[in-house]
Amino acid sequence: MSGHPQAPSSTKASPAPTASTASTGEGGSLPGPSAVSDFEIINPSFEAIQAAHRRIAPHIHRTPVMSSSSLDQLAGAQLYFKCENLQRSGSFKMRGASNAVFSLRDEEAARGVVTHSSGNHAAALALAARERGIRAWIVMPSDAPQIKRRAVEAFGGEIVLCEPTMAAREAGAAELMQRTGAVLLHPFDDDRIIAGQATAAVELLEEIPDLDFVLAPVSGGGLLSGTAIATKHLRAAAQVVGCEPRNADDAARSVAAGRLEPAAQAKTIADGLRATLAPRTLAILRRHVDAFSLVSEEEIVAAMRLLWDRLKLIVEPSGAVAAAPALFRKIGIERNSAVRKVGIILSGGNLDLDALPFGRALP
Ligand SMILES: Cc1ncc(COP(=O)(O)O)c(C=O)c1O
Repeated sequence: MSGHPQAPSSTKASPAPTASTASTGEGGSLPGPSAVSDFEIINPSFEAIQAAHRRIAPHIHRTPVMSSSSLDQLAGAQLYFKCENLQRSGSFKMRGASNAVFSLRDEEAARGVVTHSSGNHAAALALAARERGIRAWIVMPSDAPQIKRRAVEAFGGEIVLCEPTMAAREAGAAELMQRTGAVLLHPFDDDRIIAGQATAAVELLEEIPDLDFVLAPVSGGGLLSGTAIATKHLRAAAQVVGCEPRNADDAARSVAAGRLEPAAQAKTIADGLRATLAPRTLAILRRHVDAFSLVSEEEIVAAMRLLWDRLKLIVEPSGAVAAAPALFRKIGIERNSAVRKVGIILSGGNLDLDALPFGRALP
């Protein structure tokens, strides 16, 4: 257990929402002002997720679900890894981006698309736009990893660099929209994006329908929102756990407080997890996510090493964040004999090898 108040209770394996302060199951109430009241009607619906899945099928890989008996032994449960590191463009972001791009009417699409992103959404949007035959402008923070910049360029995206703050990213995108008339496709604050991201969990649950836990990383909350909506629809008994670096724990804090909390320093190796929630994703997470688990920088690197070593999978730091709570027994799974099966979304594999501080295995 991490000892953090947002960590799930060590004994929870039952379908009922946990009693942790971050419990947000149906009927759960959280303190704090209602900053999310505009989003009381929770979208997207499961029907929208199914439509997204049909729409994007020609543009995505159906990624494998992998397992390893030695990792199962380490975790004390059966772990099922949904390998979105092997997705087109190198991350799950291709799901949401292609759903949004192929949802546009022809006259909208003709104006092109614009977004701001630290990298994976940018690459995915550039690729989806290329497949639709339209332009994509990408506002990227100046500290985005080289590999992610190169990927955007390789897919034909047009990069505009900005200061590494959310405000600078949003201002840059607004300016581009005004100048070009392009349509903004936000990385997570968009029902079309969330519906697309949800399809990874749909595929995971199609393959392993009786999961007890589903773990996904969270930054702006698009992936976790989609994962939670799909999981609660297909397997209400499964607990959905949001996984965050301890150094960028604003989603756990926001859900606990019931209002958007700013990111603190966000000094984490998980470069894809530095954004903060939007009111839309906060509302969904409060309703559908059972708990949060916070992981240290050392645990992120150690999880990456184990995934390379035992599964031979290249996973980027953000992509390994949801594996750490299961591998390092942070959520009490192994102590509860009712918990057998844990689904984990390995969200991306775009690793900047040059920038990686190779850590040591945890003892
Ligand atoms: C590899 C990876 N995992 C997880 C996330 C988090 O996604 P979201 O912003 O939808 O929470 C991102 C976001 O960029 C990412 O790149």
